[in-house]
Amino acid sequence: MAIPEGTLQNILEQESLKWVFVGGKGGVGKTTCSSILSILLASVRQSVLVISTDPAHNLSDAFQQRFTKIPTLVNGFNNLFAMEVDPKVESDDLTNDEGLDSFVSELSNAIPGVDEAMSFAEMLKLVQTMDYSVIVFDTAPTGHTLRLLQFPTTLEKGLAKFMSLKNRFGGLITQASRLFGLGDEFSEDAMLGRLEGMRDIIQQVNKQFKDPDMTTFVCVCIPEFLSLYETERLVQELAKFEIDAHNIIINQVIFDDEAVESKLLKARIKMQQKYIDQFYMLYDDFNITKLPLLPEEVTGVESLKRFSKHFITPYKPALTKGTLEELQQRVSTLRLQLKEAEEELDKLKRGKHKV
Ligand SMILES: Nc1ncnc2c1ncn2[C@@H]1O[C@H](COP(=O)(O)OP(=O)(O)OP(=O)(O)O)[C@@H](O)[C@H]1O
Ligand SMILES: [Mg+2]
Repeated sequence: MAIPEGTLQNILEQESLKWVFVGGKGGVGKTTCSSILSILLASVRQSVLVISTDPAHNLSDAFQQRFTKIPTLVNGFNNLFAMEVDPKVESDDLTNDEGLDSFVSELSNAIPGVDEAMSFAEMLKLVQTMDYSVIVFDTAPTGHTLRLLQFPTTLEKGLAKFMSLKNRFGGLITQASRLFGLGDEFSEDAMLGRLEGMRDIIQQVNKQFKDPDMTTFVCVCIPEFLSLYETERLVQELAKFEIDAHNIIINQVIFDDEAVESKLLKARIKMQQKYIDQFYMLYDDFNITKLPLLPEEVTGVESLKRFSKHFITPYKPALTKGTLEELQQRVSTLRLQLKEAEEELDKLKRGKHKV
């Protein structure tokens, strides 16, 4: 049965898109795919920012250029920027004064994740003011990403907790900060203001995240059981958070177009096909894009650009099975292998005579 091959063209055509998340299991190709998507988007949108929220920063590896938490122009582009943020380190910068520092650590003991939530909010605030047309997120492996998407709720809780503390202790915090000579900016009202400000931003962004015109999540996977399983979990969680997802990238597909003779490869191809079929069955309402497994890594702007063609035109195997062309290819492969084996044999024979 011929299934129409999907591409990621739909992302490039959706002009209202503001946030594109790219996520999936570890090592499946999230960074590669988000880098390529941002390169492609840069050709159709005014300005693009790609952000890595994975502490194991790898945008720098993919583009082979050093990035920091400040958006930096990617070499060779005039409208593509990249930045790498580390939620843990960011929160240190955020709390560069002692009063707030201990306050945040108190709060994060009470509500795990609130410090991360605050630094994420700070980052979003920064990004919001910078006015990029579209922002691509290279996310950390699944669990972490889903936590990021829960931040508004976490902050909400933080605020409620703070309010209850405030009511219970009255002006105690303010009094204490005056007593210790800390300025007004350490007062509970200042802190409360700061938290509330962040909540506003995060609520605003969260509204955008739930708007399918503005936000979409691209799931990256490989044709293996665990990845299929993880993708299903991800798709369900996204539905729960009301975040749109309608693209699946199946990366590292071995195409049977090289007249493959290796038994191992043949077995892998068969196994992959089984899971690819399942993906098509489970996600018949998604755009499914298959990307070929390359013999080499995809790093550097040039190879990212070269690989990007598979995002917009379906991969076409060079050979069709059973054709004259394929048989000729197989015969020549076998001839080559025979020649190599004969040479090997010759060498062995000669070696033996010498002994
Ligand atoms: N189709 C492919 N063919 C060959 N190599 C690939 C392919 N896709 C990705 N790679 C390579 O595999 C490695 C892992 O890819 P990538 O870093 O994009 O994965 P990731 O999902 O971001 O990993 P992590 O979870 O560690 O962040 C990289 O070295 C990349 O160049
Ligand atoms: Mg990565």
